Amino acid sequence: MAIDYQKEGKIAIFTINRPEALNAMNVQAARELHEAMVDFRDDPELWVGIITGAGDRAFCAGADIKDMLPFLKEHLQSSPWAMPATPMRGLDLWKPLIAAINGLTMGGGLEIALACDLRIASEKARFGCPEVTLGLIPGWGATQRLPRIVPWCKAAELLLTGKPIDAQEAYRIGLVNIVVPTEAVMSTAKEWAEVICQAGPLAVRAAKEAMIRGSSLTLEDGLRLENALEAYLMSTEDFTEGTTAFVEKRKPDFKGK
Ligand code: CAA
Repeated sequence: MAIDYQKEGKIAIFTINRPEALNAMNVQAARELHEAMVDFRDDPELWVGIITGAGDRAFCAGADIKDMLPFLKEHLQSSPWAMPATPMRGLDLWKPLIAAINGLTMGGGLEIALACDLRIASEKARFGCPEVTLGLIPGWGATQRLPRIVPWCKAAELLLTGKPIDAQEAYRIGLVNIVVPTEAVMSTAKEWAEVICQAGPLAVRAAKEAMIRGSSLTLEDGLRLENALEAYLMSTEDFTEGTTAFVEKRKPDFKGK
């Protein structure tokens, strides 16, 4: 299997498992990631996802240059949806995703991380968009997400030069949330996931949806979206449970209903 998919309580863990190719995404890996992500999206017992890479060198070195790029070359012009739907595009996934970045994160690997909501990086990680050095641009979202996440000039530096940056620089520009020792990357990601699992899952999903959909709306339309999602949440059992638990001074028992 190119993607190892595990469930630990409410947490789904996706491991890109091609360490011999620095976890580069070939077509098989993209298809397996799609299948696992659909299962995660549709399983009511799963609340948070963590994506990581196998081995101690790489999170993901991007699209597999020998396998994925020829596939995209053959199919992209006739079908803009040739690539299976993933968090990068087309999945409509509002459950939160955490990237547990255990090493090199290049090209499509950075794009997977950018499609996550939180990024926890090893102090040994490096980040880059080397696509221009291949005569390409990023194809899984970096030209669009990177300038929305880091300052414009830093996005331009990464996208136009193809030169990588280290973990500290990634932290300094706001590309990652936290930098930790390599051996603490997964445990930190699980700790953050557990914290999110203490909150109301429908509220967490609504917050993500409001942020992401709102980022391409006018402020006025974004505020309407927020209002609609708030009205929906107030009709849920989780809202009743959360506010009742507060009044009764106990921990809420959210059900995602
Ligand atoms: N595709 C296919 N194989 C890859 C790969 C990739 N993206 N990245 C690394 N590998 C393979 C190498 O071919 C090598 O395999 P062999 O041992 O069989 O030769 C193995 O992984 C180890 O890699 P290196 O020997 O190159 O390791 P290194 O430490 O010397 O260099 C690196 C590391 C700088 C990341 C280098 O591997 C590299 O430049 N990789 C390519 C990175 C890249 O250009 N990514 C963008 C791909 S295009 C893309 O992602 C488009 C998009 O937006 C979707």
